[in-house]
Amino acid sequence: MERRLILILALCRAIPCQGYYSQSKPYVPPREKVTKLHFFFHDTISGKNPTAILVARPNFAAVFKNTPIPFGSVFATDDPITLGPNLTSGVIGNAQGIWASTGQDVLTLVVYWDVGFTQGKFNGSSITMFSRNPIAQMEREVAVVGGRGKFRMAKGFAQLKTYFADFTTGDAIVECNVTVIYHRV
Ligand SMILES: *[C@@H]1O[C@H](CO)[C@@H](O)[C@H](O)[C@H]1NC(C)=O
Ligand SMILES: *[C@@H]1O[C@H](CO)[C@@H](O)[C@H](O)[C@H]1NC(C)=O
Ligand SMILES: *[C@@H]1O[C@H](CO)[C@@H](O)[C@H](O)[C@H]1NC(C)=O
Repeated sequence: MERRLILILALCRAIPCQGYYSQSKPYVPPREKVTKLHFFFHDTISGKNPTAILVARPNFAAVFKNTPIPFGSVFATDDPITLGPNLTSGVIGNAQGIWASTGQDVLTLVVYWDVGFTQGKFNGSSITMFSRNPIAQMEREVAVVGGRGKFRMAKGFAQLKTYFADFTTGDAIVECNVTVIYHRV
């Protein structure tokens, strides 16, 4: 009797009974690591080589105020990230993604960024930020919700501080301290 049951179970495992999913098991969390990162974003809307491009905006004149990023506008970005505040300090990666201007009264963004590294031990890996980003505040925090490569299963937070902002063009340089916790691969 018991043997037959074992045989059935073994067969079930060999020939996937349900086809598209594995047997569910208790999740044993692997060991985690924590790393702190420090870099600067360069978000440039103006000029011949913008790194943030308007892809959509509301067809509604009333919402246009004196801002290059009115409520409802959506930008795609490929922002370089550097070691220091100056672009010449060395590009270590880029922040690719989308942000939308989501504040009706106070300038606020919601950002989706995949911050990928192209130098050093995290070359090829990235962290994912998906968060409200209240850019009217000089200092703010955004959530890190995931990662790729060495940063698999990442979570954490990023503290942002505006280093430079031109409210006419919308260009900005932002300092970023990230605390990221992730699986040891
Ligand atoms: C960056 O460095 C260059 C050359 O060292 C300098 O001319 C420029 O003003 C610097 N830019 C910023 C934003 O500090
Ligand atoms: C980063 O990784 C890419 C792809 O594997 C490789 O081509 C490049 O040479 C690496 N760069 C550095 C600085 O290690
Ligand atoms: C990032 O951390 C450094 C070192 O602790 C600190 O000097 C800097 O003010 C921090 N910046 C932000 C944006 O949190």
